[in-house]
Amino acid sequence: MNNETMTYDYSVVRQFAIMTVVLGIVGMLVGVLIASQMAWPVLNFDTPWLSFGRLRPLHTNAVVFGFGGSALFATSYYVVQRTCHVRLFAPLLAKFTFWGWMLIIVSAVVTLPMGLTSSKEYAELEWPIDILITVVWIAYAVVFFGTIAKRRVKHIYVANWFFGAFILTVAMLHVVNSAALPVSMFKSYSVYSGVQDAMVQWWYGHNAVGFFLTAGFLGIMYYFIPKQAGRPVYSYRLSVVHFWALSFTYIWAGPHHLHYTALPDWTQSLGMVFSLILLAPSWGGMINGIMTLSGAWEKLRTDPVLKFLIVSVSFYGMSTFEGPMMAIKTVNALSHYTDWTIGHVHSGALGWVAMVSIGAMYFLIPKLFDTEMYSKKLIETHFWIATIGIVLYITSMWISGIMQGLMWRAINNDGTLTYSFVESVQAMHPFYIVRASGGLLFLTGMLIMAYNISKTIAQGKAAVATIPQPAAAH
Ligand code: HEM
Ligand code: HEM
Repeated sequence: MNNETMTYDYSVVRQFAIMTVVLGIVGMLVGVLIASQMAWPVLNFDTPWLSFGRLRPLHTNAVVFGFGGSALFATSYYVVQRTCHVRLFAPLLAKFTFWGWMLIIVSAVVTLPMGLTSSKEYAELEWPIDILITVVWIAYAVVFFGTIAKRRVKHIYVANWFFGAFILTVAMLHVVNSAALPVSMFKSYSVYSGVQDAMVQWWYGHNAVGFFLTAGFLGIMYYFIPKQAGRPVYSYRLSVVHFWALSFTYIWAGPHHLHYTALPDWTQSLGMVFSLILLAPSWGGMINGIMTLSGAWEKLRTDPVLKFLIVSVSFYGMSTFEGPMMAIKTVNALSHYTDWTIGHVHSGALGWVAMVSIGAMYFLIPKLFDTEMYSKKLIETHFWIATIGIVLYITSMWISGIMQGLMWRAINNDGTLTYSFVESVQAMHPFYIVRASGGLLFLTGMLIMAYNISKTIAQGKAAVATIPQPAAAH
């Protein structure tokens, strides 16, 4: 038997793991800049390509697809090999997914500040880049499902179900929502028009949340929490129910982004009802993640990596409680267009997505470089700085969002508006400063992580891990 069948392929996992940290820093740096621009508009520097409007999509693309995407590639390539007891299928194709994905991110970094955009949120990139995304994604699907197909363990571990659903659904969403008629090299128009365009866009947008920012990261949760805690998943049966209920329910909830619009009213109500139902599978998953620690709670006191993982699942529970509430039409009448939405987004994005990814990277990096983390103390510091940063970010946005909503709807006895719009903008100012400080703290945590990881890599070497030969439990 040769090396090909004896050892796991960690090279592409290593590349994506390192880029998770790098792109996290880039995306969050842009996040801190745009947060500061909201507090101090002079930071737009009167320069189009540094203006809020162009940097905002750069932030979302860099954090969601750059940082989050790299974390998902790294973890899914690792987990699928470890749980199937085989090397990655088509390793050259896996390498292609790395370089292709990086090319996509670089294209975003170049084109978005230039103002080239399809104007669809989270799908801003123009058609040539969309085609590249499709090609890379197909390659990803071939590598992932090819590895599952040649597995030497009969059972397909639940984390792979979530990764698989994420890969398949994102392929469908991207192809359908990005269908466009190109009119030049960098300009295209959506093939849908009017309210259909809006509905397809938010079917995409919400399921980008459901499958990119949730299902994939649940795959991470189901592998890394049991591993780090040294305990089996709390209930395997619940994880299967969780999987099917979540996949079925998410796909209908998109219209909650279009309440009180030209979308037919029954469609809005349908979106609201499915969003409320979504609370159940989301909390089923959260309970499964947190209860995996039952009987080992004391580990939380001493293990900072586990702290990242468990706190992330708590934020997952919080944002998936808040989301269904915001989907209720009367609540949405207040929250929509306000910073409350931004607070919700970041309790999911920072609290859940970023924290679970960071925890997974602290687990992975020492394994990939055959060493221990350079400093456990720095992980602990990172954990507290990040947690305080998130709390500052989301509480300031909750207060400012609800205040904003209430100010906009306040009416005097004679029916005139109590506040002018600019008064509501002035009232936001202190909260924008608090949010920018929270963001800066979170970014500082990422820089500490980069330092800790670079030291770890320097003291380690590329790990060679052998595959168990007679198929045994993973
Ligand atoms: C240092 C950390 C971060 C800071 C300071 C930050 C800041 C911001 C700011 C200022 C906005 C624009 C808000 C507005 O238009 O009013 C924004 C939007 C957004 N950010 Fe972040 N962000 C950070 C991290 C992240 C991460 C890690 C993710 C995802 C994993 C993320 C996802 C998003 C999304 C999806 C939006 C768009 C929200 C919407 O359209 O409703 N952010 N962020
Ligand atoms: C049960 C789960 C969830 C439900 C029902 C839900 C519901 C909602 C609702 C009602 C909005 C406001 C729509 C509007 O007024 O425009 C929203 C916005 C958003 N949510 Fe959630 N949410 C859930 C979980 C999450 C999670 C876990 C994340 C992140 C990881 C997340 C990310 C976002 C983003 C990025 C937006 C802003 C979209 C935009 O306008 O650009 N959501 N969500």
